[in-house]
Amino acid sequence: MRIVSGIQPTGNLHLGNYLGAIRNWAAMQDNASASGGECLYFLADLHAISMPHVPAELSANTREMVAALVACGVDPQRSILFNQAQVPQHAELQWLLNGTARMGWLNRMTQWKDKAGKNREGASVALFTYPVLQAADVLLYQATHVPVGEDQKQHLELARDIAQKFNNDFASPDAPVFTQPEPIIPPEAARIMSLRDGSAKMSKSDPSDMSRINLTDDADTIMQKIRKAKTDPEPLPGEKAGLAGRAEAANLVGIYAVMAGTSVDAVLGEFGGEGFGKFKPALGELLVEKLSPINQRFVDLRRDQAALDAILKAGAEKARALAMPTLDKAYAALGLVRG
Ligand code: TRP
Repeated sequence: MRIVSGIQPTGNLHLGNYLGAIRNWAAMQDNASASGGECLYFLADLHAISMPHVPAELSANTREMVAALVACGVDPQRSILFNQAQVPQHAELQWLLNGTARMGWLNRMTQWKDKAGKNREGASVALFTYPVLQAADVLLYQATHVPVGEDQKQHLELARDIAQKFNNDFASPDAPVFTQPEPIIPPEAARIMSLRDGSAKMSKSDPSDMSRINLTDDADTIMQKIRKAKTDPEPLPGEKAGLAGRAEAANLVGIYAVMAGTSVDAVLGEFGGEGFGKFKPALGELLVEKLSPINQRFVDLRRDQAALDAILKAGAEKARALAMPTLDKAYAALGLVRG
């Protein structure tokens, strides 16, 4: 079992990011190392240049994301943790796969349609071929499993189509160049909403810092943000159905459930009938208990640029070594002559 996944570097990481991919990666690493599997996790910095970006922010965000991943339990000794830009084999394989991917396939990608919007002529070529780079990311390592969110399933299917067509066109059936990767879509992680508005996703770009729990928030800040979180005057219901139409209450109960590793109904079994005066301090304390150790490591690590760069460098070395045999095979299969 070889697990490969990537994440675009962003800054201002918050609880929503943690409960999304990041926590999942650490858990998969723990399972994989228990069963002899291997995980490669990378920062998709090459993907990040497909949209307008600020170079200084990209490098800062790349390092910040590494700090967050390590703080949240991704262990660079057990997983291979790196950024694409230090493994040129990703870009090389993408070019080779550009010969196999079809315009029609890429034109159907919903992310391309969404991100390009009405202005396709003005979109970057990188945005269009983004899914081909993503295919290269996983095919390069003979990934067997790729954890991704629901929104990336289509890109994974494209990677499978590319692998299949390449194998058909350029390899014999008994010696395929690429492995067909399987997606792992995590069971719908609770959507973490803004603490000020239960209908908006928790977001780094919300102007109000009170709307989110940042990975940099200390215990007092977390307690204060939960105390001030928007709610309604009703007590909590005894079961899930009673949260219908109460977006803010549902969000807080949902956060409690994922942080405690239990179900919404179990939380309501405990707190049903209570008001927020009782529930909020309990939620605040739970968040502090779970997030303080992460916060501590994150705040220390993100200051230590040398340590972060050393992690990425060591990870990239391992990744390059794993990538080379497959890349060589792809060149050879295509009839490209190399010294
Ligand atoms: N496109 C993915 C996202 O936005 C990130 C990504 C890049 C990725 N390459 C990948 C995910 C390879 C899984 C495998 O979330």
